[in-house]
Amino acid sequence: MPLEPDAPLSPATVAVSAGRPPRQPDGPMNPPLVMASTYHAGGDVGYGRYGNPTWEMFESAVGALEGGVATSFASGLAAVAAALDLTPQGGVVVTGPDAYYGSLKVLRRLEQQGRLSVRLVDLTNPAATAEAVQGADLVWAETPTNPMLKVVDLEALGARSAAAGALLVVDSTFATPILQRPLETGADVVVHSVTKYLSGHSDVLLGVAVAHDMDLAGRLVEFRSTMGAIPGTFEAWLALRGLRTLHLRVDRAQSNAAELARRLAAHPGVTTVHYPGLGAMVSIELDRSPDQVEAAVAATRLWVHATSLGGVESSLERRRRWPGESADVPENLVRLSVGVEDVEDLWRDLDEALGLG
Ligand SMILES: Cc1ncc(COP(=O)(O)O)c(C=O)c1O
Repeated sequence: MPLEPDAPLSPATVAVSAGRPPRQPDGPMNPPLVMASTYHAGGDVGYGRYGNPTWEMFESAVGALEGGVATSFASGLAAVAAALDLTPQGGVVVTGPDAYYGSLKVLRRLEQQGRLSVRLVDLTNPAATAEAVQGADLVWAETPTNPMLKVVDLEALGARSAAAGALLVVDSTFATPILQRPLETGADVVVHSVTKYLSGHSDVLLGVAVAHDMDLAGRLVEFRSTMGAIPGTFEAWLALRGLRTLHLRVDRAQSNAAELARRLAAHPGVTTVHYPGLGAMVSIELDRSPDQVEAAVAATRLWVHATSLGGVESSLERRRRWPGESADVPENLVRLSVGVEDVEDLWRDLDEALGLG
């Protein structure tokens, strides 16, 4: 069958083909790395804080994957701050208690400053959510959540938020646009820590916020330009290079995660497995003291004992080692970021380490 010019492409094809320079004889296949703090006068950009051709290539690829208009930022948290700035002065933000603690920290800070107020609700509870969104200005939904891996019904939340006149912002970092595209089910903005799966190689800090429409996108760009929360050019270039294999990495990591979650559920040292069947993050609770859990995670040889997630390499950590982590997260919980290695090698290493202590 011939490829229709306007036929929708699958996410795998978009990941490979979007955000490329025009096809012309001797034109490069990949975007150039434009290192410039200033531009010749007379154009629309003018200065490096207002735009960069390399960012634009990365943004057009992520925008195509999510189905919106993307703006890149210095880090995931800078994208979070930009999206929260869409809340009107004195507005109400509704969010779940178990979102990424860094995002909750930004919210608490803004609340202390009198910029907005926060209503915490379990977004997986439909009745409580329906009540909480009344009178809200912005709903912040992370799904799956970090690190409890709870999943929110985005379609229902989109309808509820719209009916209440609130913007819906979704932190989709754990799912990636390969598994979840919230703009298609009523979200207004999608946020990613690009640091994780989108770039995928643990060598970049970057964020992106993808807006449903040009008006919201313009407000995100204005925040970036005004506050100077701009990405590094090389980071945007590396992230776009990583994005080319997003679908392959997510596919392999997710199938590894599903297999490990199945085996861990039968492991005598594991009391609880949190795995929603979506993505490649798995959290487990061990039948051990915090010190014994620390010893077990430090004993892995293949798995990397480190924070962060979404890289090709598998990594793990006890989340409560971070003083800022919520007290609702159990002391003996280990968060696993499952990578793309051979699943048998991963299992052997994990099984040996969990047998210690
Ligand atoms: C779900 C989620 N959102 C946002 C962030 C913040 O991203 P960054 O570390 O790139 O600033 C993180 C980082 O761990 C995260 O896990």
